[in-house]
Amino acid sequence: MEWWRTAIIYQIYPRSFADANGDGVGDLPGITARLDHLADLGVDALWLSPFYRSPMVDGGYDVADYRDVDPVFGTLADFDALLARAHGLGLRVIVDIVPNHTSSAHPWFASGLHDRYVVSDTPNQWQSLFGGPAWTQLPDGSWYLHLFDPAQPDLNWGNPDVRAEFDDILRFWLDRGVDGFRVDVAHGLVKPDIAELSVFDQDGVHEIYRGWRKILDSYPGERMAVAEVFDTAPDRVARYVAADELHQAFNFDFLEAPWDPDELRRIIDASLAAAAGVGAPPTWVISNHDRHRPVTRFGDGIPGRRRARAAALLMLGLPGSAYIYQGEELGLPEVLDLPAEVRVDPQFIRSGGTALGRDGCRVPLPWEGDTPPFGFGAGSWLPQPADWAAFTVEAQRADADSTLNLYRNALRLRRPAATLTWRSAPDGVLCFETDRLLVAANLGGSAFTLPREPVLASSPVGGTLPPDTTVWMEKD
Ligand code: GLC
Repeated sequence: MEWWRTAIIYQIYPRSFADANGDGVGDLPGITARLDHLADLGVDALWLSPFYRSPMVDGGYDVADYRDVDPVFGTLADFDALLARAHGLGLRVIVDIVPNHTSSAHPWFASGLHDRYVVSDTPNQWQSLFGGPAWTQLPDGSWYLHLFDPAQPDLNWGNPDVRAEFDDILRFWLDRGVDGFRVDVAHGLVKPDIAELSVFDQDGVHEIYRGWRKILDSYPGERMAVAEVFDTAPDRVARYVAADELHQAFNFDFLEAPWDPDELRRIIDASLAAAAGVGAPPTWVISNHDRHRPVTRFGDGIPGRRRARAAALLMLGLPGSAYIYQGEELGLPEVLDLPAEVRVDPQFIRSGGTALGRDGCRVPLPWEGDTPPFGFGAGSWLPQPADWAAFTVEAQRADADSTLNLYRNALRLRRPAATLTWRSAPDGVLCFETDRLLVAANLGGSAFTLPREPVLASSPVGGTLPPDTTVWMEKD
């Protein structure tokens, strides 16, 4: 079976992972120096959010040069060293590709090659996902489209030059040895007629991905791509992972699911059915760099922490592939009280602060020690809470009950599986078995008697499974 069908993939947000040169911003040498953490955790691959040359208006999702490393993150030689070290540790590496838009500092836009962008004499009613109109006027009086920030002009995929350029960018990174790509806003590339209300998920995108699949398949070593397709029904998302297109798509329905047994079971069944219909692996995710962290999302304080741990064991027990976002394995909370003056997310800025935005899940990781910057660089680009000493990797390594050790144990005990069978269980309990494991998650109010001793539990259990707890048991 191909590796990506059951892989655990760890997302790194380079600005906030590890800082080797101590300037307060994470960098590629920092990642390389900390790869042991990921090998020890037991993941199969890592996905790097963008590290390309960028004015960093949107944290690097505004790319000015797709073939170079931004100096704040290091150099191409640093990237090669990272890749070599990761491969040496048995970790695959997936890089982010941002094909929906470039930075306005990209030479194409900066030099006025506007036929490569979506430009119109008359703007329509489309809104930017970061707030406000999606059109900004150019000096010649025409308008260019930006579904995100004005510093992120949307590319015109009707122009063959754009297609050829991205084919070449894919080859550039594949030639360097990357194992695949995460495709940013994969459902946005092709725009509908300007009279349409809805802009995403146009049928024309699939032809692009069929071309990309041919490129990926022309390289040895099971290269893959995972699509970001949000706000789209599972049957439509499945079209991106047809056998001749991309390999995986993120499961935003699962990410956004409330802590509700019926809703979760419905989403799990729909996800399994949609993936099986096209022969793709189901995928699961409970956090990423765009969403509030699960510990905070699932409820304040202790209930949130219990549920986030239970959600993690539920996710890692499911068949298919799963994504872990940096810091999730440390049980980090969302930092909600960052002062306005340190926030940089365009979502926050463009909404005039009415949307808190995504800075709170991007606070640099705490590695060791008792006070900020906890082994990150001094003066970190977002301040870490002073009370994060108990969350450091160092502290959690030493604590058998830590969230870090829960994730480590789960990844050690996990058996890659392709299918799931539901077992009967009382109201509020989800119980299923995969090839080797029996998984029970109690999302209800009452305790449930366990058929046998668990091999792993998200919270302490006796002979019963308490609320907000997931256990794994060996099958007979
Ligand atoms: C994706 C990224 C997000 C970024 C946006 C625009 O949704 O995950 O971080 O802001 O695309 O590139």
